[in-house]
Amino acid sequence: MKSVSELGDLRGKRVVIRCDFNVPLDGQTITDDGRIRAALPTLTELRDAGARVAVMAHLGRPKGEANPKYSLAPVAARLSELLGTEVKLAADVVGDSAKQTVDSLADGEIALLENVRYEPAEESKDEAERAELAAKYAAFGDVFVSDGFGVVHRKQASVYDVAKLLPSAAGTLVKKETDILATLTKDPARPFVVVLGGAKVADKLNVIDNLLKIADTLVIGGGMLFTFLKAQGFEIGNSIVDESNVETCKRYLDEAAAAGKQIILPVDVRVADGADFAAKTPQGDVEVVAADAIPAGKAGLDIGPESEKLFADAIRGAKTVFWNGPMGVFEIEEFSNGTKAVAQALTEVDGLSVVGGGDSAAAVRDLGFADEAFGHISTGGGASLEYLEGKELPGLTVLEEDK
Ligand code: 3PG
Ligand code: MG
Repeated sequence: MKSVSELGDLRGKRVVIRCDFNVPLDGQTITDDGRIRAALPTLTELRDAGARVAVMAHLGRPKGEANPKYSLAPVAARLSELLGTEVKLAADVVGDSAKQTVDSLADGEIALLENVRYEPAEESKDEAERAELAAKYAAFGDVFVSDGFGVVHRKQASVYDVAKLLPSAAGTLVKKETDILATLTKDPARPFVVVLGGAKVADKLNVIDNLLKIADTLVIGGGMLFTFLKAQGFEIGNSIVDESNVETCKRYLDEAAAAGKQIILPVDVRVADGADFAAKTPQGDVEVVAADAIPAGKAGLDIGPESEKLFADAIRGAKTVFWNGPMGVFEIEEFSNGTKAVAQALTEVDGLSVVGGGDSAAAVRDLGFADEAFGHISTGGGASLEYLEGKELPGLTVLEEDK
């Protein structure tokens, strides 16, 4: 992968760059600008080099239609603030407004195209359709820079196809993220502990499979833990469960035991009748029960205090930690303790601690932790998990290909 400095003198050159500005919004308000801040080093580098920069990005899943709900307007405003200069937003992606906006750029200026997912071809499965759109993107630049790490697992026109048409380089964010993930998979300082949470076990099966080969210890919390408890034959009441994967979880537990690896599951859980997501409150009383004795009719919504200690000890004893996925329904105060305890333990690691993307990154900031308290907060949830699954990421492979 080339770096930006290898693209030569960029003064007066047009650079088209892919960033991942898929930030969480509450109406028009950005609730976590981590992904925008993460793009600043490369954007400033390009600006300082005197390039004329057109930024491509997506927000949400507008499914090929222009929809103000998914406009990048809040992103353009925040980016302007952070850069201290106005970033103009084109009214379309590759139409007249985009062309005019790009043509009007002076050296060192940055503009944003509208949400690339307004274009139906952006996410098309048809290579020719994507290539046609990518050619329009490529017309906006003399070179392409890929810096949207959070989307490099997507084979999409602004991520993959455009890189085939222009001299391309990885931005500093993509470089940094891939360097760290390479360290985790190839040469982690040991013990290497991986903490996985989140609601859906199905999302994590491949990563568990691959990490059982690489990590020393796997710690499991979040909604997915109940499928593991069920695999051990425990009563799980009304807790979330993925029946179709109970056998797979059982196999992982057996495989881990045979390979001398540790899978740490909670010993206790916080339960209630349920959770009212809209009101952000538990339904019924919150109780702590043993993990093998969840009462019928109750749902597990966070790990319990004994488990917090158990997890925190495992994390603090590690030299390398990767964490993805909350331990409970952290948006509800009463069920945020497990996630807080894990985040706190990560800040105390004497070694490399990595928070993996999306929801986990937003969770730690939401809970009041500073970015600097961790070794690295990834901007890519799906992307970092697919990397750890050992999959090829199209947005990276295309940068590695010779042109
Ligand atoms: C993300 O937030 O996961 C990335 O921006 C990719 O978005 P997507 O999952 O909608 O492709
Ligand atoms: Mg996603």
